[in-house]
Amino acid sequence: ELPRFVKIVEVGPRDGLQNEKGNVPASVKIQLIHKLVGAGLSVVEATSFVSPKWVPQLADAEEVLKGIKQEPGVRYPVLTPNLRGFEAAIAAGAKEIAVFASASESFSRSNINCTIEESLARYRGVTAAAKKHGLSIRGYVSCVIACPVGGATDPAKVAYVAKELYTMGCSEISLGDTTGVGTPGSVVAMLQAVMSFVPVDKIAVHFHDTYGQALANILVSLQVSKATMGINIVDSSVSGLGGCPYAKGATGNVATEDVVYMLHGLGIETNVDLNKLMEAGDYISKHLGRPLGSKTATALRKL
Ligand code: HMG
Ligand code: MG
Repeated sequence: ELPRFVKIVEVGPRDGLQNEKGNVPASVKIQLIHKLVGAGLSVVEATSFVSPKWVPQLADAEEVLKGIKQEPGVRYPVLTPNLRGFEAAIAAGAKEIAVFASASESFSRSNINCTIEESLARYRGVTAAAKKHGLSIRGYVSCVIACPVGGATDPAKVAYVAKELYTMGCSEISLGDTTGVGTPGSVVAMLQAVMSFVPVDKIAVHFHDTYGQALANILVSLQVSKATMGINIVDSSVSGLGGCPYAKGATGNVATEDVVYMLHGLGIETNVDLNKLMEAGDYISKHLGRPLGSKTATALRKL
């Protein structure tokens, strides 16, 4: 049994472009976001209000968020690592923020320069402020399968961080396989641990395709079977953009075009128009001077 509808959270403009070496002008980011929304995506992660010393690629966060024509019914979450980022985000018109913790101590250090507990304490302040302003909050857990330097992540640790984020008011918990090493086996074990604390309809899966396992991992996350999963929120990135500046060697997120192709093939609705989505993929790939990062788009463009 599979869900009838899956909500796709497009993270390309943020998770994708945060890792680009060359400078992508704000105007291109804004156009990309408009094209993605035009393709029917109802959640497009726009940018991050993080330190430009850490992620110079997103130093134009204010310009990008202010430059977007926000459509009714569409969500444009932005990452905020601390209260300073939160204040800047609301000043630029954010209506939804995302906080991002890790299930790995070493990744927490290299990504946000603090321990997991310190990050959770900081996020309690950020989420309290967001709730006061009536903003929705997404919570990320990264390194849910393994960490870039250490080995496997204990599913109990993922469940703990997810529970803390959920308890402090995150209405959606996105579980990130940051390095893309997960397989359906390790993913199911991790999801089962998290689902003891977070309701399934609040869980999103966020797979990177480093080992080519992302679609299989998504399918197993959606399926309701003996090991009941039944997740219906999937993060992905147009043309498979991305990687993570603090997870060396990790490739991009699973390509949104490939996810849409699979879901539609399963008879699952997404509201996304694959042709228009491919135009967004063409646009950003051309701008970056790079071949299409989606197998589906590559195949369909050859027909
Ligand atoms: P820090 O160096 O410990 O903190 O960084 P700091 O307070 O000393 O700040 C350093 C400098 O940045 C200071 O500037 C601050 O003012 C400034 P200086 O005084 O030296 O001139 N600063 C800021 N500037 C703009 N906006 C802010 C801000 N905060 C401080 N909000 C900090 C700590 C958290 C700020 C830093 O480590 C940081 O920004 N990290 C973000 C890294 C990042 O964005 N990584 C990618 C996220 S992807 C991810 O987590 C995984 C995910 O995609 C899921 C998955 O794929 O699995 C979500
Ligand atoms: Mg990611």
